[in-house]
Amino acid sequence: MVKINSNYIGKVYSLYSPVYDLIFGKIMEQGRKKAIGMLNANGGSKILEIGVGTGLTIGLYPSNCSIVGIDISEKMLTKARKRASKVRNNNHITFKVMDALNLDFEDNTFDAVVASYVVTTVSDPLRVCNEMKRVCKDGGQIIVVNHSRSGNGFLGKLEDIISPLCWKVGFATDLNVLEPLESSGINVDQVVPVRPFKLYKVIQGTKIDGLVKSQN
Ligand SMILES: C[S@@+](CC[C@H](N)C(=O)[O-])C[C@H]1O[C@@H](n2cnc3c(N)ncnc32)[C@H](O)[C@@H]1O
Repeated sequence: MVKINSNYIGKVYSLYSPVYDLIFGKIMEQGRKKAIGMLNANGGSKILEIGVGTGLTIGLYPSNCSIVGIDISEKMLTKARKRASKVRNNNHITFKVMDALNLDFEDNTFDAVVASYVVTTVSDPLRVCNEMKRVCKDGGQIIVVNHSRSGNGFLGKLEDIISPLCWKVGFATDLNVLEPLESSGINVDQVVPVRPFKLYKVIQGTKIDGLVKSQN
């Protein structure tokens, strides 16, 4: 039985790192573009991307906002650093090896937090959502793009069955990604299905601590 923890997942993605862009680059591009397109970022915006991987989103951010990218895999970050020097000339961008389950940032640090295809790769999605919310400023955006379990029909059942196998290669398929987001108290404003096969969702949320949660 595989013990899923951040250490194991970090090793899996380090193995992927030489071929990650080839396998997961184009096929999951629409979600990344949509997610970053939803950001209300301006010149002074400070953005955290968790599980930034090889940095496939980096070229999509406005050039004048400031980005911190964290990942559990140093090898994935090595690729991200190379990309950042090409597409941003290393401007306003830093990378750190860090576990998304224990973010080493003060509360209310970032104007927005982005998680692109990460929530189903962590051992405790609720804890990660709590952490994203904690480090985001009140009123800030939390944007997640991810596969999400396909309801209770045939496909959903299949996703439940294959999930233990998929964990061995670095991700779960049986998570309804809205559940940890909503349980953490992040206000979900918009959910947009994206390719491949509309099995993935871009979720735009807001940290609204202190405000009344909207009813829709
Ligand atoms: C499927 S990849 C997504 C990479 C990139 N965000 C993208 O859009 O392609 C998942 C990434 O999350 C990282 N990751 C998994 N668990 C993590 C954790 N607990 N803390 C930080 N990063 C983690 C992996 O190392 C990997 O780089």
